[in-house]
Amino acid sequence: MTATRIPSQPWLHGHAKEVQHFGTVRQFPIALPSPTRARSCDVLNQVLADSQILFALYKKHHWLMRGVTFYQLHLLLDKHAGEQLELIDGLAERVQTLGGIALGDPRQVAEVTQVPRPPDGAEEVPAMLSRLLEAHEIVLKGAHAGARRAAEAGDDGTNDLLVSDVIRTGELQAWFLAEHLVDTPLVYGEGG
Ligand SMILES: [Fe+2]
Repeated sequence: MTATRIPSQPWLHGHAKEVQHFGTVRQFPIALPSPTRARSCDVLNQVLADSQILFALYKKHHWLMRGVTFYQLHLLLDKHAGEQLELIDGLAERVQTLGGIALGDPRQVAEVTQVPRPPDGAEEVPAMLSRLLEAHEIVLKGAHAGARRAAEAGDDGTNDLLVSDVIRTGELQAWFLAEHLVDTPLVYGEGG
């Protein structure tokens, strides 16, 4: 007996060959030559990898936060994580806009990132905040260098994304974190 073929049966368990390899760029008519788009994709993917780790560290420390400032830091770190997630989407979609392949699988992200791996457990609160600041600086360093290269190559869109979004947001978040590492008297000033 032959099974009746249902025309609208979804094609399940499909495994096919890659249609575009990582590191290559497709041709899009956006007035930017392939080598420029390929270089921008490399830069953007590095910032993307580091930002994905920064996002993950924000969530980790949002969960692991403790102490008398728990509530405010718990909320602040989650707010920053949400803003990082938006940047990540913008970076990934910029890579796609340029014809490249955005770095998405966390296992590949872990291979590419320059942000050091933290201990699996919890650190003291100031150490956790310092760790986030260091991750920010790695992202910012990559974004500054990438923005300069993109500007020199005429890739204004990439330059704008890195400067207006990644750098501006990262600097602001770093300020908010750094202010929590100032040892300031809570009630009495030094004058008594
Ligand atoms: Fe949460």
